[in-house]
Amino acid sequence: MTQALSTQAVVAVIGAGAMGAGIAQVAATAGHTVKLLDNRPGAAVQAIDGICAQFEKLAAKGKLTLEAAQAAGARLQAAEQVADLADAALVVEAIVENLQVKQTLFKELEAVVSEACILASNTSSISITAIGAALKHPQRLAGLHFFNPAPLMALVEVVSGLATERDVANTLFATAAAWGKTPVHAKSTPGFIVNRVARPYYAEALRVLTEGGADCATLDACCREAGGFRMGPFELMDMIGHDVNFAVTNSVWRAFFNDPRFLPSLVQQEMVDAGFLGKKSGRGFYNYQDGASKPLPDSVPAQDLPHDIVVYGPSAAARALATRLQTHNVSFTQAQAMGDALATAGGATLRVTDGRSATRCAFDTHTPNTVLIDLALDYAKATRLAVSVAAQCDSAAAHSAMGLLQAAGFAVSQLQDIPGLIVMRTVAMLANEAADAVNQGVCDAAAVDTAMRLGVNYPCGPLAWANAMGLPQVSTVLAHLAQTYGEDRYRTSPLIQQQLYAAKVFS
Ligand code: NAI
Repeated sequence: MTQALSTQAVVAVIGAGAMGAGIAQVAATAGHTVKLLDNRPGAAVQAIDGICAQFEKLAAKGKLTLEAAQAAGARLQAAEQVADLADAALVVEAIVENLQVKQTLFKELEAVVSEACILASNTSSISITAIGAALKHPQRLAGLHFFNPAPLMALVEVVSGLATERDVANTLFATAAAWGKTPVHAKSTPGFIVNRVARPYYAEALRVLTEGGADCATLDACCREAGGFRMGPFELMDMIGHDVNFAVTNSVWRAFFNDPRFLPSLVQQEMVDAGFLGKKSGRGFYNYQDGASKPLPDSVPAQDLPHDIVVYGPSAAARALATRLQTHNVSFTQAQAMGDALATAGGATLRVTDGRSATRCAFDTHTPNTVLIDLALDYAKATRLAVSVAAQCDSAAAHSAMGLLQAAGFAVSQLQDIPGLIVMRTVAMLANEAADAVNQGVCDAAAVDTAMRLGVNYPCGPLAWANAMGLPQVSTVLAHLAQTYGEDRYRTSPLIQQQLYAAKVFS
């Protein structure tokens, strides 16, 4: 197994901004002498002062001993120029996100450092292959992509360009692990793993918003309270900043030669054009001005408990619904599976969405009183569920369906009749993108799930989630979305199809 760099090895970090300072802190904590260089006068010294203040805070909280904090601080040195970095065994670049500027810097470095020195870029969107093309020895260059804030976020993507030597990537992988991080290997492709696979989290929500499915607060609440995501897509976009998020969306879309899978949304363009950049500008999807309150999600008012409740079959959703009804002392009967119905109550039939609209589902199944429920990460624990009601459904039956869910302890948000509701279509598309990344050799299945859990705090890796739902369900949802929209964006990844036909799960 390839060894990590020894702690005796000098690490240079270039760029003393948000990321460079964080990376320098991580390397110094791990025991390396760290030389920090920035072309803005005074920036490196200022960053070192900031890092030392962090060390003091950690010591005050008991997370580092005072001696360890002082020793780590003493290992940080401000460098004046590239020539000062001659003894570095590893240089991590975290400067401005510009290909030419990065290439110029790496060329300058190559003339100074030893042949054994590993060169790494923290770029989040520039091709490692393209940066390497300017180098004499591109085999020693790799991506070492930390997440913000670097001292706190566990994930590091170790990115190999076309010329990167396997040993170089393996040394960086082992070194990141020795620094207490969780590294994953990735091939240099647009967005690497996280910034690519996360696109549908925003894109599907923006689609549903554009089609009038519900307002942002309601969709966010469904993603949090049913999907188990830490932040809903709109609040997350507001936090990232629409300028930044739109730029990443555009860059991934363009880099994939305008593949409709990654198509940006006009809503993003509008937000950027209006200067509604999110939290930092005081206004995004939400208002952040002093005194502004956050809108509440729409919840269906309390409905009467319906009569004749029957829960069907052994699915996870049915088991959870039955347990919840028992917990709330609601009387019901259980019956063997009846098609894909989850429950009936007061004349309504409830099903978990399979990517069709409720109206189409009612038509296809000859069941006018159809109400669809959204996916939940765990139906036993979810506090809210999105539902949609078929156009053919009478209002008494719709109320019965909602009353049933409320009796089981769910807050209910009724969306317009959007195919795949919000959580289901989002998770299906996240899994689809994750599968494509694996299918195209960007990374393996374990890496994509680790990356999404640790890089963007997803409650479950998309492929593990697809396994848990069952690939037939994921594939059906995608097929129905593709049929509805007639867009290539919803094409099913060949790997999902392959695993489905082979009756295998992702592992
Ligand atoms: P930043 O703007 O906070 O810091 C960049 C620093 O680099 C500045 O202090 C600037 O003076 C310095 N600099 C610019 N050109 C230089 C040069 N030629 N030589 C030496 N110093 C130079 O930027 P940030 O956010 O730290 O990003 C740095 C890199 O990390 C970019 O490539 C970015 O894409 C990437 N990245 C950023 C993340 C983020 O959330 N901010 C996350 C992961 C990667």
